[in-house]
Amino acid sequence: IMNRNVKELVKQMTLEEKAGMCSGKDFWHLKGVERLGIPEVMVSDGPHGLRKQAAEADHLGLNESIKAVCFPTACATACSFDRELLEKMGETLGDECQAEDVSVILGPAVNIKRSPLCGRNFEYFSEDPYLASQMAAAHIKGVQSKNVGTSIKHFAANNQEYRRMSCSSEIDERTFREIYLGAFETAIKEAKPDTVMCSYNKINGEFASENHRLLTEILRDEWGYEGYVMSDWGAVNDRVKGLKAGLELEMPGGNGNTDREIVEAVKNGTMDEQILDTAVERILNIVFKFADNRQEGKFDREEDHKLAGKIAAESMVLLKNEGILPLKAQGQKIAFIGKFAEKPRFQGGGSSHINSFKITSALDAVKEVAEVTYAQGYDVKEDKIDEALLAEAVQTAKEVDVAVIFAGLPDAFESEGYDRSHMRMPDCQNILISRIAQVQKNVVVVLHNGSPVEMPWADEVKGILEAYLCGEAVGQAEVDLLFGKANPCGKLAETIPYQLSDNPSYLFFPGDGRTVEYREGVFVGYRYYDTKEMPVRYPFGYGLSYTTFEYSDLQLSAEEIKDTDTLTVSLKVKNTGNMAGKEIVQLYVADKTGAASRPVKELKNFVKVELQPGEEKTVQMQLDKRSFAWYNIQIQDWYAATGKYEILAAASSRDIRLAKTVNVVSTTELPIYVTMNTTISELLENSKTKPIIEDMSSSLMEHMGGSQEAEEGNAASEAITPEMSLKMMENAPLRSMRSFMGMSTEEIQELIQKLQTAAEEN
Ligand code: BGC
Repeated sequence: IMNRNVKELVKQMTLEEKAGMCSGKDFWHLKGVERLGIPEVMVSDGPHGLRKQAAEADHLGLNESIKAVCFPTACATACSFDRELLEKMGETLGDECQAEDVSVILGPAVNIKRSPLCGRNFEYFSEDPYLASQMAAAHIKGVQSKNVGTSIKHFAANNQEYRRMSCSSEIDERTFREIYLGAFETAIKEAKPDTVMCSYNKINGEFASENHRLLTEILRDEWGYEGYVMSDWGAVNDRVKGLKAGLELEMPGGNGNTDREIVEAVKNGTMDEQILDTAVERILNIVFKFADNRQEGKFDREEDHKLAGKIAAESMVLLKNEGILPLKAQGQKIAFIGKFAEKPRFQGGGSSHINSFKITSALDAVKEVAEVTYAQGYDVKEDKIDEALLAEAVQTAKEVDVAVIFAGLPDAFESEGYDRSHMRMPDCQNILISRIAQVQKNVVVVLHNGSPVEMPWADEVKGILEAYLCGEAVGQAEVDLLFGKANPCGKLAETIPYQLSDNPSYLFFPGDGRTVEYREGVFVGYRYYDTKEMPVRYPFGYGLSYTTFEYSDLQLSAEEIKDTDTLTVSLKVKNTGNMAGKEIVQLYVADKTGAASRPVKELKNFVKVELQPGEEKTVQMQLDKRSFAWYNIQIQDWYAATGKYEILAAASSRDIRLAKTVNVVSTTELPIYVTMNTTISELLENSKTKPIIEDMSSSLMEHMGGSQEAEEGNAASEAITPEMSLKMMENAPLRSMRSFMGMSTEEIQELIQKLQTAAEEN
């Protein structure tokens, strides 16, 4: 590692050179400064493969890039719930980047799946911020272990494609912190991505690319971020304002106009040169981190293709299996039906599109395993029933013991750049499935889609395998899972609702084009469905296996903890079936304190454990303050109220296997500002004001009618019991002492003074 004095280097740069460092040279390169030995480094899209483009390049995947291995997309890999696997994939990508001289691979993308309609959901991990952040952190660690940078994106609240470059996401602070920033926070703090990519949209009226609060106060001051921020491609609005706000690098490079604006701003004194120096320093630190630490990269496409298949098999989710899977390679006549068996859809359109090195379809892979018949069934170019294809498929299905239908969303149905307008699959495919189910009782559907689809035929088929968009080796993984060479072990990283209108964002998505209001608040995904007790097609965290698992012996390291302590949770998991398999054990926390309106439960940890038949293992997970806390806007900080919390060990958000309660004691006293309208209950909740109110309580009660003798025949005392009047009193503001206790305004003011003084005592 070379010992560079970057500060010194910046001092030697001219104003123009410094301004020049703050925008790209072209679409994919940063500028270099030859006389100072600053190299031109390249950045390239990912995140599920290397999309290294030639010089004449665009960013929407319209031009050819080099042949590379397309790994499963994030919507799939998130279902692996496997930190090690994501790290391994990251390492492989890092190796590929070293081999191809790419300094930063753009991604991972962690935006929350707010609505199933977002065209880019396939690139995003989850509806849950904890899971998204864990997956992202693992990806980042893997890539960066090879001395290649990452760019976590799109920061922040970019949850739709509709008007993505101008629309303002209107979000309340608590929701922003808990859900949308939550997906970034842990990954940024723990895995320290070299770069962060800010998003196109505005947040509460301010562009992300010039949002000082977002890019400096939250990202740097609160989270301690030390890398640099780059713009999404074309996200810059006002360059100088952006630089001041904390946007170091503008991408792609333009014709030098914005560089000149920066120079001008320094010259005319509207921007302190120190801001520019700091920005350049941050960029150069990362440039040299790559340039000075080159290592031999390898890009063995055959090997990486195999890994892509392995990751795919760990990611797919078995949704339904009524004794039909695994298939038998011998003694069973099988048909593969549907265009996607032959030409699978395994990635999405737009900037993440990989020029795949090779593609293994299910029809390719099955050749090694069994003989199957095939019928195309439908066309993907347009959603039109082709009677000839349909008839042929029905006939093919009739002649076998099992029909496996490969279905899903064609490219045009979901892509970067626009949102879906509905949640349905093409009619021609839905009809195909139903028609086949009429003549064949053994039907399995394999789905290829980047975001949930409505499944009107779910009850008509015996098996459903959700393959998502699982990369170029998708067919290998499908065949391995269908025939039981691999055991399904993925679980849903998002809820699959019955229909679009069930989704909590339904009434507000995607807004009027100028703004989109996040009115469902923190109730995103299962946080909403579970709290509402709404039936869903398949819940968050759900997925089947060919074996079964039993949970037992849930233990907490303590019955009571302070919010600053760590709680260790352990339990035993046993494979009670007869096939080796992996189980994803989820830990949810349910706040029972009643201190705030919260989802019934939230995912706070998980572990994936591999077990041989009959084997039992003890797994351990930690919970800390953040596992219990919510973002309290009064103190602008995370806060876990004192009280009971349930710890739920679960196989899905709707399959709680074991539960135990822990008592958490808060070390934070919420500040209180006593006024005429402060209620008795608020004063009773504060440890400092509580004794004063308790001292007064008997006389209070008396005046409020609580201590009246309950006389036989006394109508008033029958209607209002002492318990009731106590409850009523709790809701009374201090000013009501004037009406009910005969206190004067001055006396109440004195009391307020006394309470406030007590509250402020340490
Ligand atoms: C996308 C980014 C991508 C960039 C470069 C943008 O349109 O939003 O995700 O990294 O282009 O291709």
